[in-house]
Amino acid sequence: MIVLGIETSCDETAAAVVRDGHQVLASVIASQVAKHAPYGGVVPEIAAREHLQAVDPIVRQAVEQAAITIEDVDAVAVTATPGLLPALLVGVAYAKGLAASLERPLIAVDHLQAHVFGALIDHPEHVRNPATYPLLALIVSGGHTLLVLVADDGACRTIGQTLDDAAGEAFDKAAKILNLGYPGGPVIDQLATSGNAKAIEFPQGLTGRAGTPVRPEDRYNFSFSGVKTSLLQHVRKRFGPDGAATDAQVPELLDVIASFQGAVVAVLVRKTIAAATEFGAATVVLCGGVACNRRLRRKMQAATDAGGVKLITAPPKYCVDNAAMIAGLGCYQFDAGMISPLDVDAEPRARPFSELPFGPAR
Ligand code: KG4
Ligand code: ZN
Repeated sequence: MIVLGIETSCDETAAAVVRDGHQVLASVIASQVAKHAPYGGVVPEIAAREHLQAVDPIVRQAVEQAAITIEDVDAVAVTATPGLLPALLVGVAYAKGLAASLERPLIAVDHLQAHVFGALIDHPEHVRNPATYPLLALIVSGGHTLLVLVADDGACRTIGQTLDDAAGEAFDKAAKILNLGYPGGPVIDQLATSGNAKAIEFPQGLTGRAGTPVRPEDRYNFSFSGVKTSLLQHVRKRFGPDGAATDAQVPELLDVIASFQGAVVAVLVRKTIAAATEFGAATVVLCGGVACNRRLRRKMQAATDAGGVKLITAPPKYCVDNAAMIAGLGCYQFDAGMISPLDVDAEPRARPFSELPFGPAR
């Protein structure tokens, strides 16, 4: 079956055509990053206006690239939650209109579930293999950071999440403090390669490293506001109130960037490995925009290798927001009969998800 996927939850307008869940016939992404960069973050109304202009041409482009006609589409999948409400509404309204006019089912997809699927698009063999489960997914994006345990029948349990900033948000806020522009993740990733990650010891929230005991219920929760505040104080002390390093201070600035990234990555890896061990996970899945981070990928690989756990990392093109993950998961939802009414609502808040539509024991 052929599913058209549409994604407008944040600042990328994306459309994709996927056959049978895994064969990506086309995946088109139009980024609005340049429109939001002057504001240092995504402005919901601007995002909505840009989606409105882009969504129809992007869908047409995806259909053309897939070398199909719109009538070949068997179902229309769209991100309905979570995300920026004005942005979500554009995709959802467009998808409803398209599904109604084509007389095809509408499939409302959860963006966070789709991020997990983004790591599995290229691996149908792992999806169907009982030995892949239990699977522990670390979803690290601009808006969310959570650890979800997935059983072989698709049953899910959120075992940890951030209590304040998401990991991507921490990267973006750090970049703002360091005058590195928006989005912060890619530029920090790049600059950190020239710095020493051990130069400064930034706090690693909820790990007990600073001598603060971690409450049992927070063992797998995250907190990135401490490292952000500590970075702000450090930068002001060393580089002045506007955080602008002089030319002579550039090597020191690179060490600060590398150390900040090092602290965030260390927490993510440490908690994921501890949870994988406690819950007997056979596989760790690393997904979401922050999963592009090269240090995170490298450190997670080393830690899972050492722990004898299989790691599946989403390829960068399916880490960042894209519609292939929406269409792919949409195929599984269709097969599972998870079809949405045409009056389905967009929901900005994340809902704890209790099941994924795949798994060999379903
Ligand atoms: O998943 P995503 O594309 O959008 C959301 O669903 O939020 O994630 C975007 C986030 C941004 O915060 C961005 O700074 C971060 O992913 N990001 C990175 C890297 N590439 C993107 N963070 C760290 N290192 C990267 N290389
Ligand atoms: Zn995302």
